[in-house]
Amino acid sequence: MSQNPIGIFDSGLGGLTIYNEIHKLLPHENIIYLADSKNAPYGGKPKEQIIEISVKNTEFLLKNHCKLIVVACNTASTNAVKYLREHYEVPIIRVQPAIKPAALNSKTKVVGMLATKGTLESELLFETAQRFASGVKVVERVGEGLVDLIENGKMESSEMTQLLKKYVEPMLDHNIDQLVLGCTHYPFLTEQIREITGEGVQIVDSGEAIARQTRVILDQEGLLNEDQKEGERVFYSNKNVQVLQDMLDLFHDNLIATAIDF
Ligand code: DGL
Repeated sequence: MSQNPIGIFDSGLGGLTIYNEIHKLLPHENIIYLADSKNAPYGGKPKEQIIEISVKNTEFLLKNHCKLIVVACNTASTNAVKYLREHYEVPIIRVQPAIKPAALNSKTKVVGMLATKGTLESELLFETAQRFASGVKVVERVGEGLVDLIENGKMESSEMTQLLKKYVEPMLDHNIDQLVLGCTHYPFLTEQIREITGEGVQIVDSGEAIARQTRVILDQEGLLNEDQKEGERVFYSNKNVQVLQDMLDLFHDNLIATAIDF
């Protein structure tokens, strides 16, 4: 069982930012990554539909013998993980916007948060903010259109620059000193965002924390792969497989994207 793969899914390419951290920390693990780009973006969909899609993705990964599932999407994590945990026995890791470290590290006591509508409106985010960010003002903004541009291979484009300026500049007027990237697609934009914020704002994502959490749970469950060779990694996409391949090529690791009808 410990040699079975870790399954990771997202509404497309964003979960690769989580995959990267998991592979860095756990290089011997076999991994199956599912880019459900056909259903992207999840962000504006109703909760019931996000649950339905997450169930379908989970079933796919379980059919492929995954020993643990990482829901590498904030929108699916905030809306569907409770349901998944109630219905499946396999350990399920969720991602969460890094509000807690941002609130702790903020000196201005104003934190920016860029995420999808589905994440910003979720109960889980509301509870997390209440619990960990009391006394801190959170300036929220829906990153409308950012996921679409990334999924369509327009990560570095004038449209992207314009949207980022439109979303981030008003946050600077509120004097934020931390900016939480509450969508797993957004860490691909970190450098572009930094050009707008300058060095005075810390840009925070939760990739490393999720990788550490994955290791803790695998260890607890006796599921860590003890092999010494580098793990096999398989990447599936149900739309725009070339865009996934182009993104994988940026990692310089000879990774192959495979198209699936799913
Ligand atoms: N990567 C997903 C997230 O973290 C993108 C959401 C979407 O598909 O809108 O929320």
